[in-house]
Amino acid sequence: MALLIGSRKKRTAVFISGKGSNLKSLIKFSKKKKSPISICLIVSNNYKAKGLIYANIFKIKKKIFSFKNKIFVEKKLISELKKNKIELICLAGFMEILSNHFIKNFSGKILNIHPSLLPKYKGLNTHDRVLKKKEKYSGCTVHYVNSRLDAGRIILQKKVKISENETSKSLSRKILKEEHKLYPNAILKIFNL
Ligand code: GRF
Repeated sequence: MALLIGSRKKRTAVFISGKGSNLKSLIKFSKKKKSPISICLIVSNNYKAKGLIYANIFKIKKKIFSFKNKIFVEKKLISELKKNKIELICLAGFMEILSNHFIKNFSGKILNIHPSLLPKYKGLNTHDRVLKKKEKYSGCTVHYVNSRLDAGRIILQKKVKISENETSKSLSRKILKEEHKLYPNAILKIFNL
């Protein structure tokens, strides 16, 4: 990713499907002077996503796309992103798999956050699987998105210790707290800030 030229912030879209706690932390981060991004668009595949509330609170444009017909929808989505001159896409709990065609259109410009220490525990139900394996540590990872699930180049990771009696819920809470710091830090890192 190229260095930030001058002080113009990169026009960023955040894709969500659920609660949007990472979206909220990214919005807060984007408002800081040192932040290289400005969030111009929130995309969701789910009109019931709780995180959409942040579009109203922070007056950010939102677009909802039903992914029933992926090829058709991605075409519309790509043109919406281009229309809004989006330069960076942050996936934050977005539950659709984007096609190779989509990824190629924004090559090197799509980031994702995943609640495990990748390459371990790709995919869904991460915390349950981690606890079942009696791991001592888990964590979160921000990575570039490529055509393979949760497999693009890693930008930043944060390790957390698993406590005795840890539940999937408590682990998720603990890791989410770290995610809210990790995503902004990963963005600073890719812009060499
Ligand atoms: C996070 O744990 C993220 O790592 C994963 O989905 C969850 C989204 O949480 N990809 P939120 O919607 O940002 O609160």
